[in-house]
Amino acid sequence: MKGNKVLVYGGSFDPPHRGHEALLRAAVKKIRPDKIIIVPNHQSPLKGSPHAPSKDRLIMVRIGILDTLPLKIKVISIVNTREARARRPVFTHETLSALKGDLHFVCGQDSAESFGRWKNPSRLESQATWWYGARPGAKGKVPGHFKKIPGAFPDISSTEIRSDLALDHDCSRELSPKILAYIKTRNLYGNGLVTRLKSSLKPSRYEHTLNVASLAESLARRWGANPDKARLAGLLHDAGRRFTPPQLARFARVRRLKVPNLSEIIALDPMLIHAYASEYLARTEFGIADKEVLSAIRRHTLGDKRMNLLDKILYVADATSIDRTHPNASKIRALAYNDLDAALRSSVAEKLIYTTSRHAWLHPLTVHLWNSLAPL
Ligand SMILES: [Fe+2]
Ligand SMILES: [Fe+2]
Repeated sequence: MKGNKVLVYGGSFDPPHRGHEALLRAAVKKIRPDKIIIVPNHQSPLKGSPHAPSKDRLIMVRIGILDTLPLKIKVISIVNTREARARRPVFTHETLSALKGDLHFVCGQDSAESFGRWKNPSRLESQATWWYGARPGAKGKVPGHFKKIPGAFPDISSTEIRSDLALDHDCSRELSPKILAYIKTRNLYGNGLVTRLKSSLKPSRYEHTLNVASLAESLARRWGANPDKARLAGLLHDAGRRFTPPQLARFARVRRLKVPNLSEIIALDPMLIHAYASEYLARTEFGIADKEVLSAIRRHTLGDKRMNLLDKILYVADATSIDRTHPNASKIRALAYNDLDAALRSSVAEKLIYTTSRHAWLHPLTVHLWNSLAPL
């Protein structure tokens, strides 16, 4: 008689990598299920963001995990689309209540360590037998009700894979050829973004862009902002620098960019338009729809009266990236890890000193920004 042991494998699979595949195979060997249900979870990716839409993740789970399984395992496996297709986050306890059988939930070490923060952990604990795959060298504590799947599983981070894909780094060790081909065809995870940037910017500007992206990402981790968004904003913040000042003036007029005090900027310092041109290119050429990313790009030069966390991070990262040669750059960069607002204030001060020392024009937004930050 057919048993009712059900292996449930949950995760975001963004993208599915060889670590997922290895964990599932080991779990099958240990648990010996009669049925396998893979449950990609809900995410709310924005078009062009570093995350993939649900429909793409579901297809990738099929070609990257399901199709790689030996036939006798594949025939008992299905992909459950309930969470991924929902328009709201679906909690695991809801998914488990909808499933029948002797449930065995499998996840990676990071998820197991965070179990206490899942919705309704005490109910969850009684809904299934809990299994995790240990990551080599992991030091975190896994709750006592978890059983360990024998073996050590490759230390692969989806966040790093997404970064590497945007940088066109080789991911063939982490991703199967089919997944790589799919990502390329669907242009996911900003695939090739960096190559496109490289071909459109001068080498020194391209280097600066990479430096700003890496500092913005690191500051985002420090201050609890989204590192992927920070990195993306850093990569694209100077995309508009491909244009000369007269081209920027024309671009702003033809594309009707909403640049405050545009006539004065065109007359006095057209290069200041580049932040608005970068935002436009990020939206139209690179398909970015994330409002936070676009806002940070738009505000990185002139600033604004109100700056959100990502705006501040990009402003400071741009002013103090490792290629900046002004004497206080490294000091402010270090300060940014202890006091972001103080680093922002110092970055604006440096800009004011530089601009006034050249007897150049100060844009009203920068004056507003300074007045909103300067101590009374
Ligand atoms: Fe810039
Ligand atoms: Fe810049």
